[in-house]
Amino acid sequence: MSDIDVQFCEILPEKIRIQPFTMVVFGGTGDLSKKKLLPTLYHLCIDQDLPEEFSIICFASSERTDEDYREFVREAIEEFSEGTVNWGCWENFREHLFYLPGNFDDEESYRRLSVRLEEITRPTDMGTREIIYYMAVAPEFLPRIIERLSLCKLCKGVFNTRLIVEKPFGRDKVSAAELNRLIGRAFDEDQIYRIDHYLGKETVQNILFFRFANSIFEPLWNRRYIDQVQITVAESIGIEGRARFYEKAGVIRDIVQNHMMQLTSLVAMEPPIGFEADSIRDEKVKVYRTIRQMDIEYIDRFTVRGQYGVGGIDVQDVPGYREEKDVSPDSKAPTFFAGKFYIDNWRWAGVPFYLRTGKRLKKRTTEISIHFRQPPLKLFSTTCEIREPNLLALRVQPDEEISLHIGVKYPGIGKQLYPVNMNFNYERDFTGDVHFPLPYERLLLDCMKGDQTLFARQDEVEAMWAVVDPIIRRWEETPAPEFPNYAAGTWGPAEAYELMQSEGRQWRVW
Ligand code: BG6
Repeated sequence: MSDIDVQFCEILPEKIRIQPFTMVVFGGTGDLSKKKLLPTLYHLCIDQDLPEEFSIICFASSERTDEDYREFVREAIEEFSEGTVNWGCWENFREHLFYLPGNFDDEESYRRLSVRLEEITRPTDMGTREIIYYMAVAPEFLPRIIERLSLCKLCKGVFNTRLIVEKPFGRDKVSAAELNRLIGRAFDEDQIYRIDHYLGKETVQNILFFRFANSIFEPLWNRRYIDQVQITVAESIGIEGRARFYEKAGVIRDIVQNHMMQLTSLVAMEPPIGFEADSIRDEKVKVYRTIRQMDIEYIDRFTVRGQYGVGGIDVQDVPGYREEKDVSPDSKAPTFFAGKFYIDNWRWAGVPFYLRTGKRLKKRTTEISIHFRQPPLKLFSTTCEIREPNLLALRVQPDEEISLHIGVKYPGIGKQLYPVNMNFNYERDFTGDVHFPLPYERLLLDCMKGDQTLFARQDEVEAMWAVVDPIIRRWEETPAPEFPNYAAGTWGPAEAYELMQSEGRQWRVW
């Protein structure tokens, strides 16, 4: 793409300068910190996105010094950064890292934290002092940390604070509401950043730009022209050593309640009245609230659960779920979900949304496909039947692209219809100096700037749980099918195919 052709249109005044801040990472020695958070923060430092004055304090239980922690962070960056690490910034970055040994339950530890924050937090241009609390801990620790922070007056008052909370946010609607209440007693909603890393993906953000910046699709984006929508989040990886979490969570809590619901609402929502956080989040909440509640009969008929058994991915043998470390040999945890949803509003009434996700599927692919209706008549009377109606595929990952499948005449004297693709491909079409921020980079920067658009709001989280709660409940009350019911490296259980066949449709395959 040449420079002359490029038209930029910044929706918000993007160039907000990030002010000095201190980030306190609870669980700064855990898995999430090692694999995602710390390498991302270092990346931001390399890209010169961080201000000169910032500090990162790890609050964790083991005894370590600042120097020990710096070494720990260096190793984490080395092991988990994507691509080759540029160490050019390390000497500077390490000086901003601190360690505070503390016990999550012990008020004294929080008092020491308060003293440390006073010492190292530099004021902003406005004279305020900004603190970001990052909860990189198992969900059970959250309530007690928040309570202690509040007791020690570390939530509001002396410092301007923000709180980043990781998913899963609760286990169901009731516990999510309870957690919201608890956090809400200590922080205001505009201080709370509930992370869903899918919202930080470039291609996910593009759904809104694509829909609302192009007038040719919006008139067709409804029940009159769309026959069905499919959303697939297929993973070829297994549970990657996270049995303790996954055994309790299963696929719906892990992926459907958050990532898939977010994708659904971005595809289905009405145009927001503005691009500010609440305008967008208001529209998303309306979608969740109009998703039809499933009753027991519906769940039994239109949802499918699965668990992977031994199989092969890319010619490599892989174990079944029950053979994974720390998984119970008769585990009932589902690793696959498929289901049909309806959104009961004027735009979508009667259009099925088929959602499918699973671990150890054949290929890693996240895609939204919009399947348009058949033309009303056979082409040229009876001579030509259109077998592949128009389809718009938004590929979120990998090979990020948007493609429109259309039918054209095959060259020659015959009258053959031939399916072709028109496509926009990120890698091919954005070359040169274009930077694709990783989801965590984008989300951390947004939080530092105080932009909540890509974070889930309280009512949003509860509304998403309300959609999936009946399915989780029904699945937990009724015996699971004979697990494992699909082999690793396939597209999931036979029932998922049957679900589509009984609808006269097919899942997309790649
Ligand atoms: C996480 C889930 O939220 O998303 C994981 O807990 C899953 O189980 C991951 O593997 C998928 O993310 P991505 O970005 O690889 O699609």
